[in-house]
Amino acid sequence: MNITKICCIGAGYVGGPTMAVIAQKCPHIQVTVVDMNVERIQAWNDADVHNIPIYEPGLAAVVAEARGRNLFFSTDVDQAIEEADAIFISVNTPTKTYGKGKNMAADLKYIELCARQIARVAKNDKIVIEKSTLPVRTAEAIKSILDSTGNGVQFQILSNPEFLAEGTAVTDLLQPDRILIGGETSEAGEKAIAALVAVYANWVPQDKILTTNVWSSELSKLTANAFLAQRISSINALSELCEKTGADVTEVSRAIGMDSRIGAKFLKASVGFGGSCFQKDILNLVYIAKSYGLTEVADYWEQVIIMNDHQKRRFANKIVQTLYNTVAGKKIAFLGWAFKKDTNDTRESAAIYVADDLINEQAELAVYDPKVSETKVLQDLNYLQSRTADENQAAISYFDSAYQACQGAHAVAILTEWDEFTDYDWQKIYDGMQKPAFLFDGRNILNAAAMEAIGFVYSGIGVVS
Ligand code: NAD
Ligand code: UGA
Repeated sequence: MNITKICCIGAGYVGGPTMAVIAQKCPHIQVTVVDMNVERIQAWNDADVHNIPIYEPGLAAVVAEARGRNLFFSTDVDQAIEEADAIFISVNTPTKTYGKGKNMAADLKYIELCARQIARVAKNDKIVIEKSTLPVRTAEAIKSILDSTGNGVQFQILSNPEFLAEGTAVTDLLQPDRILIGGETSEAGEKAIAALVAVYANWVPQDKILTTNVWSSELSKLTANAFLAQRISSINALSELCEKTGADVTEVSRAIGMDSRIGAKFLKASVGFGGSCFQKDILNLVYIAKSYGLTEVADYWEQVIIMNDHQKRRFANKIVQTLYNTVAGKKIAFLGWAFKKDTNDTRESAAIYVADDLINEQAELAVYDPKVSETKVLQDLNYLQSRTADENQAAISYFDSAYQACQGAHAVAILTEWDEFTDYDWQKIYDGMQKPAFLFDGRNILNAAAMEAIGFVYSGIGVVS
């Protein structure tokens, strides 16, 4: 079995970059990325490659190289399915907002729609690859839908979860820590696994391509995200203790991270983790554990989310308390809205929740983010349904420059660790602010002593100021 034509359903943060890199590294394979979102596909096809819908360092160049050669973006899902030997399913799997498992389980309606569409359209044998993050044993459901037509077409289901992080997607895809491929242990399953291994082997060393059974692969993805998020909640939990005891969380992180058994990554205390996946995947894990009656397992992992919610709320509370217990009518500049630097993605960003709390306290927020638009900021707030859209609009002003956002502000809050924030002329920002000028560094990116020397009342995470 040799894969020569790939279809990827879902042209989002995973489907777009992943397929662009496969196409770049495998010029002999035709890669078609399809989506039902017409606007998104139009943006991927925009003549100016800088207008592609996802901002990721290095992505525009990869797309420019492969697009039109062996990389195509289309809304014709049926045709791409029909032509392909291998179909990646890379659609969104959000937390359910209704019915059984509401606010916990993964909503698999988009996955099921894809499976039904593939079953309807496919006329020859196909490999179907789960690229989306899915609950363990989803492949079973996909297989039963695919096999239900009785038309003799054979399907092999593989699980090939994606581990890229936003902001570093291109380097993560070019130099992955590992590629994980789970498949059936039958002869046909092994052939399908080998075919997908051959695609990645075009640029990934063989010893980094790991093959497992399907269930291990599905569960490893949820587990990886749970472990990463758990490290952040662990250090954030300790950050609160540091603030009470005079320990400095950055020093504690460094001290424990040098232990090779612990490791230094993902120990950066922050205003709380965001992003579309950590919360949803842990909630999903908790739901699965509960559904098997594993109460202690479920409670253990749920604590990671509880801690993260606490950290976001704690940051907002600290701003209110420090500003003499009232922010009503006060201007607070928000530097950063994205959930991390180098992305325009704002899903589950801590900034949204901190803003929501501060608007409840009648603060006036002045927002600046290098990559996030005013429309997106307002959409994010409106999505919470805490108040009317008009009320959100009235509470927010949006600026194209951080200096303007901070002009006349009572306080500045850093919500995202954008590099440019460290390069600012902080003296100039200080000069333009109300005094005392408060600075809340939710990412610990500024030098506390230097800020205090300017005159700021500086407050970082996990350190007594
Ligand atoms: P996304 O929302 O950015 O993209 C999903 C796309 O799928 C959307 O454009 C949507 O229109 C399209 N879609 C949904 N149903 C469709 C259908 N039936 N036919 C055609 N198109 C359809 O989502 P994402 O961030 O790319 O995430 C996709 C999956 O990958 C999720 O399961 C997520 O957990 C996982 N994941 C995401 C990341 C990340 O960094 N964002 C990393 C690893 C894994
Ligand atoms: C995360 C994982 O890192 C990826 O491996 C995974 O593929 C992806 O989720 C997914 O499944 O969607 P991502 O959410 O894009 O990637 O970004 P991360 O770098 O993991 O950051 C997540 C959040 O944690 C951000 O808000 C970030 O600021 C925060 N963070 C990260 C910290 O607060 N401290 C840290 O030490 C690291």
